[in-house]
This record gives sequence, C-alpha cells and structure tokens, in this order.
Amino acid sequence: MTDSPAPAPDALPEASGEEAALAAGFDLSRLDAAFLDDPFPTYRALRRHAPVKRMRDGSLFLTRWADLDRIYRDTKTFTSDKRDEFRPKYGDTPLYEHHTTSLVFNDPPLHTRVRRLIAGALMPRAIAAMEPGLHALVARLLDRLEERGGGDLIEDFAAAIPIEVIGNLLGVPADERGPLRDWSLAILGALEPVVTPGAAARGNAAVTEFLAYLRTLVARRRAAPGDAATDVLTRLIAGEADGERLTEAELLHNCVFLLNAGHETTTNLIGNGLELLHRFPAERARLLAEPALIGTAIEETLRYESSNQLGNRRAAAEVALGEAVVPAGTLLTLCIGAANRDPDRFENPERFDIARQPNRHLAFAGGPHMCAGMNLARLEGRIAIAAFLQRFPTYTLPAAPVRGGRARFRGFLSVPFRPA
Ligand code: HEM
Repeated sequence: MTDSPAPAPDALPEASGEEAALAAGFDLSRLDAAFLDDPFPTYRALRRHAPVKRMRDGSLFLTRWADLDRIYRDTKTFTSDKRDEFRPKYGDTPLYEHHTTSLVFNDPPLHTRVRRLIAGALMPRAIAAMEPGLHALVARLLDRLEERGGGDLIEDFAAAIPIEVIGNLLGVPADERGPLRDWSLAILGALEPVVTPGAAARGNAAVTEFLAYLRTLVARRRAAPGDAATDVLTRLIAGEADGERLTEAELLHNCVFLLNAGHETTTNLIGNGLELLHRFPAERARLLAEPALIGTAIEETLRYESSNQLGNRRAAAEVALGEAVVPAGTLLTLCIGAANRDPDRFENPERFDIARQPNRHLAFAGGPHMCAGMNLARLEGRIAIAAFLQRFPTYTLPAAPVRGGRARFRGFLSVPFRPA
C-alpha cells in the first residue's frame, strides 16, 4: 500500500514542494523538538499530501476529520482492544495489566459494563452539584496568586483544579492527594509513541504504588460507603442494581484510569486556554467584553490546541480508507489535532475564534468511547478561565512558557505569569 493521493488543497498558500517533503519525511517514532513545539505545519502537510500516511512499522497516521469521525463511530471495524499492541511494548508488567484493563482500551463487554457505572456517576446532576465547590476552589487559588503577585499558571492554578475535582469524585482525603499528579504523569507518559526504559520504569512504579494506595482506599470505603449518587468509588464498588459488578482488578485499574483521564487533559485545557488568550489579545479583549462567550471559547480552545492530540484504533477487518485498502490488524493513529484544523470541516481553521459556531471538534473523540468526563472538563474550563480573566484581565507572561514535550498530550509544564 502507498500513501493516498493529495486531497483538495487548503485555503492557505504554501510552498508545496517543502510541504510535500515535510509530509514524506514524517516519522512518528522520530519526532523532534520543533514538531513537539508546533506540530501544526506538519499536520497540515500530512492532511494535504498524505492524509493516510504509512509509518515504517506498517501503522497508519490519519489526519482528516471525516476519517477520524467515521472510525470513532464504527467500533466493530475499528477496535480499541490494545493487547496485541501493548504486549510487545510493555511486556508482562503493571503498565500492561493497567492499560489492558481500563475501559478506554477495551471493546464490549468489559467496556460497556464499566462505562455504564462511570457514566452514571458523571450525570449532569452530579456535575451540577460540584459547581459551588469548584467556584470556591478557584477563588482560593486566585486569592493566593493575587497575594503573591503572580506565579505559575500550571503549577499554581491549572493543575491544582482537576486534582481536587477528581480527588473529590473518588473521595480521596485531601491530605492523601499529594502523589496523584506524579503517578498520573508517569502512567500517561508511558503512552507516548516511543517509551524510553526510564519512562517505562517510572510508569510501572507509578501503577504499582497507585494500586497499593487504592487498595487501602477501597477497603476504607467498603467499611464506610459514601453517597452512591455522587461518590464514584462507592458506586463502582456497589455495582449496578441488576447485579453487574466489577472484579477487584477492574475496579482498581479503572479508578487509576479515571484519575488519570480527568487530570492532565483538564490541566492542559485550562493552561492552553490561558496561553491562547494571551497569544491572541483581540480574542481576550472580546471575551472580556462579552463574558457569555466563555462556552464557545472553551470549545475553540479544545479544537485549536486539543489536550489529547493522538488516539489509536486497530482495523479488525480489511477496510478502505480513502484510496487506501487497510489490511485487518493494521494499527491506526488518529491525529485529533490535525482533524480539528481540517479545512474540509472548519472554515478558516487556523484562526482562533472564540465565538466559532458550529464547532464539531473531536477533542473528546466520538462514538461509544467519547469522553465520559467531557461535561465535567468543560465546567472546570469555563469556571477556571472566566474567573481568572475577571481577576487578572491584563495578565502577562514574562518568560517563555515551557511545553510538556509530548506528542500525545499537548500542554505546558510551566507558564510563569504576572497579574499585569
Ligand atoms: C479537556 C479534558 C479532557 C479531554 C480532552 C479528554 C479526552 C478524551 C478522549 C479523546 C477520550 C477517548 C479516548 C479513545 O477512545 O480513544 C476520552 C475518554 C475518556 N475520558 Fe476524557 N478527556 C478529558 C477529561 C476527562 C475527565 C475530566 C474525565 C473524568 C472525570 C474523563 C474521563 C474519561 C473516560 C472515563 C473515558 C473513557 C470513555 C470510554 O472509553 O468509554 N475525561 N477522553
């Protein structure tokens, strides 16, 4: 199979020879610092010149919105089961057991059972109940930043919000939340396209320590159950009224997954949003003048700088994708970041427009695996960014933000800021 032919050209003018070379040379296993800093020129080149791009290992890298949308919906042809891929990647390790037991990397029936339990606890009523606490948390963080005359947007603000929210969701006592962020970063870091031995060792240690901690938490919750309407852990332990229950391993690994899923992604949404509003001052002024645009501004942040840039599926049967015939078993990397700037779907896609509508981005994927926490993430994003902007309408970034250096999860490690 060869790369598929070039699609209709984007609206933006480009040196097509250079772009074609960029697409031809793209190698997911050898990403350089320039790509990690700004992958969008490469994404654009791929969308135009090789939207179904073959990698050296035989996998395909996909960049068109329509391809991703179709794949996310069709779970029969495109499986989420990662056992074949993760066995050689991780060997017989805690990381392998963790990722292959999480709902996101499974097909029905495990996926359906766990999803029902988790989705039930993330219903709009449960999320609405978190709103007052979220406002109070954000106000406390802003007070501290104001007292100190600035700080780090990530460490002191964006990362501090989801850790509290997910901690509350699972009922992790406040004084036991310290290690959660590092565990989460280590486990998700091991999902990068290339895993160094050091990253794998950190990921495995994090899974082992996290599980040991959760065993004690689950034992305490069994002894003293919480309110099943809002406490996800109590709900997962109790199971469904019809008797559907998780095994102990399923329970523990899916709690780890939940903590991870809602954590770095939401930190990045808040951090990316505040960096974008700084990078595009006219959009910041527009949001200050029209605070009601916060909902569409969050969607545009998710589209323009998607927290989660890459997803994966495997073809369960031979299937045609554009001009390409994809053999059964082929691993597919779905480039959400590229699809979200596809000119066939979005008008003027390189423009950051906080009032953009319609905006059917794929930042939360789609189909049966579509993010179960998206409404919670949106709520966190809206409350955090609106309150920050109101408190520090003229904030500045005195030093260059430091990127996370990852291809899959796009965000910053640190963004120093001053109130004005
Ligand atoms: C901006 C923040 C977030 C982004 C961008 C995001 C993105 C995603 C994406 C792309 C998927 C689909 C993965 C796939 O099937 O390939 C997903 C799944 C999931 N997310 Fe999120 N997520 C965010 C926040 C959250 C939060 C706050 C929670 C929970 C508290 C959460 C829980 C989940 C769960 C449980 C799944 C698995 C759903 C399934 O497999 O059925 N996410 N998320």
